[in-house]
Amino acid sequence: MLHTPPLSIEKFLGKNVHLLPQTNQLRAMHTIIRNRHARREDFVFYSSRIMRLLIETSMNLLPFEKYQVETPVGKKYDGLRFASQLCGVSIIRAGESMETELRAICKSIRIGKILIQRDKLTKLPHIYYMNLPDDIDKRHVLLLDPMLATGGSALAAIEILLDKGVREKNIIFINFITVPEGITAVCQRFQEVNIVTSAIDERLNENAYMLPGIGDFGDRFFGTDLNC
Ligand code: PRP
Ligand code: URA
Repeated sequence: MLHTPPLSIEKFLGKNVHLLPQTNQLRAMHTIIRNRHARREDFVFYSSRIMRLLIETSMNLLPFEKYQVETPVGKKYDGLRFASQLCGVSIIRAGESMETELRAICKSIRIGKILIQRDKLTKLPHIYYMNLPDDIDKRHVLLLDPMLATGGSALAAIEILLDKGVREKNIIFINFITVPEGITAVCQRFQEVNIVTSAIDERLNENAYMLPGIGDFGDRFFGTDLNC
């Protein structure tokens, strides 16, 4: 079968695409969850651990300002504190799998939702519903979706955020697995959006699934495919 030549994503890496260090620990966790025979409890447990790493990494991209405190022994500590308001926005359904870890890291964070589903046949995204914080235009947004495949869903979600007045540079897209096609689609259109991911796979197959991939993330995480 003929495949299109691989897309070059070098120019985006380390600039607006932040790939987690490919440590043995991370690779081992990916090995557990990519296994088609993974038990669902393991899938949920280890994918949640990776999500936590992704969210922690994303926090480093937020702005900080100087902040001094006095320690219990009467000395000044020249520290830092977050310098912006934050919110999460999950792309339903798979993005919701990341909310628990986000709440574990960011106490009482506001979380908006956008319901986007890929059409089963055309693979094109459809927007069904959204509910976002009123003051989202003043916030940094952690956009949550574990899968960035063709990029259609992410592009639609980013358009919605921009329409609501969010600044492009204030969007951090937190993603679990992507492919060069998805990175290129987002980074060529939105040069200031940051993407944090734990794996860049080889390519898409003819059904717009990533290879070697993980299958349908939402089905595996939420247990809706009884073969999972
Ligand atoms: C999956 C995934 C992304 C989208 C990525 O959602 O969660 O939103 O596909 O693919 P794309 O980059 O080609 O748009 P899906 O519509 O399958 O729904 P789900 O969240 O219910 O699994
Ligand atoms: N959505 C998924 O769940 N998996 C893919 O490989 C692509 C889109």
